[in-house]
Amino acid sequence: MSASKRENFGSSFTFIMAMAGSAIGLGNIWRFPYMVGEHGGAAFIIAYIICSLFIAVPCFVCEAVIGRRGRGGVYGSLDRLAPGTGWKNLGFLSVLTCFVIASYYCVVGGWSLDFLVRSLTGKLAQGRPDRAVEIFGKMAASPLESISMHMCFLAATAVIVLRGVKNGIEKFTKITTPMLFILMVAMVIFSVSLPGAAEGVKYLVKPDFGKLDAEGWACALGQAFFSMSLGVGTVLIYSSFMKKDNSILGSGLWTSFSDTGFAIIAGFAIMPAVFAAGIEPGAGPSLVYETLPYIFAKMGTDAPLVGYAVTVIFFLAILMAALSSSISILDVCVEHMVEQYGFKRRKAVLLFFVLALALGIPCALSFGCMESFKIFGKTVFDFCDYVCSNVFMILGALFFTLFAGWKMKDEDFRDEFTNGGTLRFSSRVFPVVRFLVRWVIPVVILIIFICSL
Ligand code: ALA
Repeated sequence: MSASKRENFGSSFTFIMAMAGSAIGLGNIWRFPYMVGEHGGAAFIIAYIICSLFIAVPCFVCEAVIGRRGRGGVYGSLDRLAPGTGWKNLGFLSVLTCFVIASYYCVVGGWSLDFLVRSLTGKLAQGRPDRAVEIFGKMAASPLESISMHMCFLAATAVIVLRGVKNGIEKFTKITTPMLFILMVAMVIFSVSLPGAAEGVKYLVKPDFGKLDAEGWACALGQAFFSMSLGVGTVLIYSSFMKKDNSILGSGLWTSFSDTGFAIIAGFAIMPAVFAAGIEPGAGPSLVYETLPYIFAKMGTDAPLVGYAVTVIFFLAILMAALSSSISILDVCVEHMVEQYGFKRRKAVLLFFVLALALGIPCALSFGCMESFKIFGKTVFDFCDYVCSNVFMILGALFFTLFAGWKMKDEDFRDEFTNGGTLRFSSRVFPVVRFLVRWVIPVVILIIFICSL
């Protein structure tokens, strides 16, 4: 789509809802709780909140400023704003990161789909909390089941991306995001009331900073970027559709509040139940999918119908949240091929469908027959996840920040950030934001990154 013909999100609210839809997904519900479990509980949550507010929000601002000013994908925007320079090649890093994320993200999306089918047919834990943990293991160990579910989820993502950003996304996020929020709050209430849950609550509110090392900080930063889909071009592309009178800072803050709030609520929904069920908090990527059947089996013990309804609605909502995130990820790859190589949208979607399917297979099998196949001591799934969130996304966000801070013209940045001087608050804080973006954020990101290596 050319710069001049680019359609816009209807309103500021619609833009924020779409951004929140892209941000809120498996990163909050699946990834955040297990990261908390792997990095010592409350201290990690504090590090995550600090990284979200003080690093991720300014990075969001940078990506959004570039996108709205450049009115294109990563390649097109950077080329338009800095013609004849190498900056546009950052598009390649974005595509690589999004392609790898799409591959393993759709595996987890496939698990949600599998659990939805099981819930519908009444086969999720079947009222047996004691057998709940086995369900994930059995599903993951079946190559046919995990690969076919991955393929279905990826295919759904590809079809929605093919229909275009605006049509595909807005319809979903307006309904499913608030629905998921209400369900998660209900689950917190249920989860903390389970016998043995108090230990889990303590784990989330009593920080032990001794457990938070440099890698913990890097993971907190990586989680903040993963969760807000930063450093990969998603925010940049969405912002290229943002109306000129919307506030970039306001959108960033609202996206961060809703995203961080959602993650913390997910933590409180899952972790008390983890302790109640006697599951190991550091169990890794399988943690949430081992815990959810337990929660729903418990719910179903006293009130089977309520348990059934909540389970089905929950997995439907989580599936939609995952889809609204996966489409924004795949869209970065598609937009890039259309912009840089003149691909037809259909051809680009098909290409990445095939590629993500190919890489997704070893990721899916990482929990079954390829569990012992390791790259640098990690399964294919863990390796892809680690490299994306702890290396690629951090580097991507660093480069976008450097571009906005040092390469973009000062007046262009100011104009986008303050909407031509019409936003009073943004105009007042502009010098501080500019200073942070130029001097503080890149240095902090680099320090965390290097220390974690
Ligand atoms: N931001 C997306 C999520 O958290 C990738 O699920």
